[in-house]
Amino acid sequence: MARIVTGNRGQEIGRSVSLRLAQLASQRLAPREYGKIEERVHVLVTGGAGYIGSHTAKILAQAGMQPVVLDNLQRGHREAVKWGPLIEADIGDWSALDRVFAQYPIDAVFHFAAFAYVGESMRAPELYFRNNLVNTLNLLDTMRSRNVQKIVFSSTCATYGNPLQIPITEDHIQQPVNPYGESKRMVERLLHWYGRIHDLRWVALRYFNAAGADPERELGENHDPETHLVPLAIRAAMDPKQPLEIYGTDYDTPDGTAIRDYLHVTDLAEAHLAALRYLDTGGPSDAFNLGTGRGHSVREVIAMVEKVSGRKVPVREVGRRAGDPACLIADATKSAGQMGWRPRHSTLQEIVETAWNWKVRSSH
Ligand SMILES: NC(=O)c1ccc[n+]([C@@H]2O[C@H](COP(=O)([O-])OP(=O)(O)OC[C@H]3O[C@@H](n4cnc5c(N)ncnc54)[C@H](O)[C@@H]3O)[C@@H](O)[C@H]2O)c1
Repeated sequence: MARIVTGNRGQEIGRSVSLRLAQLASQRLAPREYGKIEERVHVLVTGGAGYIGSHTAKILAQAGMQPVVLDNLQRGHREAVKWGPLIEADIGDWSALDRVFAQYPIDAVFHFAAFAYVGESMRAPELYFRNNLVNTLNLLDTMRSRNVQKIVFSSTCATYGNPLQIPITEDHIQQPVNPYGESKRMVERLLHWYGRIHDLRWVALRYFNAAGADPERELGENHDPETHLVPLAIRAAMDPKQPLEIYGTDYDTPDGTAIRDYLHVTDLAEAHLAALRYLDTGGPSDAFNLGTGRGHSVREVIAMVEKVSGRKVPVREVGRRAGDPACLIADATKSAGQMGWRPRHSTLQEIVETAWNWKVRSSH
């Protein structure tokens, strides 16, 4: 049956979300003290079987909300969906999406579903424009027809392209240098126009480098193929036959390797709740960087993996990859000031320890 969200219900939900988040923040809400399922705030988590989406579903449940995961499992994992229903469907499938909005009282959407490999996007841009852009248009139109007005979108620092200044602020020019970044930039433009014309309320979170794993070891990072540094360094530490490739040792950085801003996936997940609270308390639609404001070089990450694991990380030095900037660091002052979000788990040590602990557990 179709469900209409009235203005009053919207305000009510806003109040209840803010209250739950405030309670959680002050640690007064024990994770099991939730209301009945039908009373909970429901969030549709597209791509919730993937790395960041699954961690965010857990944080939503801990905050007393109900994640409803929609994922086609092309690049996700069924076993990562543990805190609510999994609808196995594609966001490009209008009728499947419409059924979800009819079945569950969805209050907001966290939109993670996308393809996210820069290299693949340079070989097959059509995949990226179809999945990341066209399918998002489908999602926005279904939301509109079901009167769901809030969305938090997974954007990326790849929308900036090669940085002109470090740290990167949100008003840095957006000139993506690959179709992946371009597709995300285009979705940001969609959000802008749907906001102006159709009253969609949105937050675009421009993640820098997500890393780490659930501290309780229930979830972790498991991409196939894996392209991210922390899991690759851990794999090399566990299996010397798979050395870590270092792309470029002649950058203009203190140790010659590239520098990135690594953010713990739990901090990323919490930022989505902060973004929802921001929208619920009347914050205007906007884009925010998510990073720590500190960078670590490839060699620093390797040294930390060696320290945490007690093993050597075998490496193979290879040339630079085209389009890899020497340094990407976020200025996340705006996220702190306007959404009240700050990273709490993102020391390099905590990132590597949680990733290592999960990998050790999941390898048995
Ligand atoms: N991992 C990072 O460091 C990083 C950095 C910046 C931005 N992002 C963005 O964050 C989001 C999540 O990244 P991730 O690392 O968790 O990726 P992921 O591949 O682990 O998760 C994406 C999930 O979306 C699903 N999916 C893809 N297309 C779909 C479709 N059409 N319909 C239904 N499900 C679909 C996949 O099956 C997968 O489970 C992506 O949008 C990505 O672009 C990630």
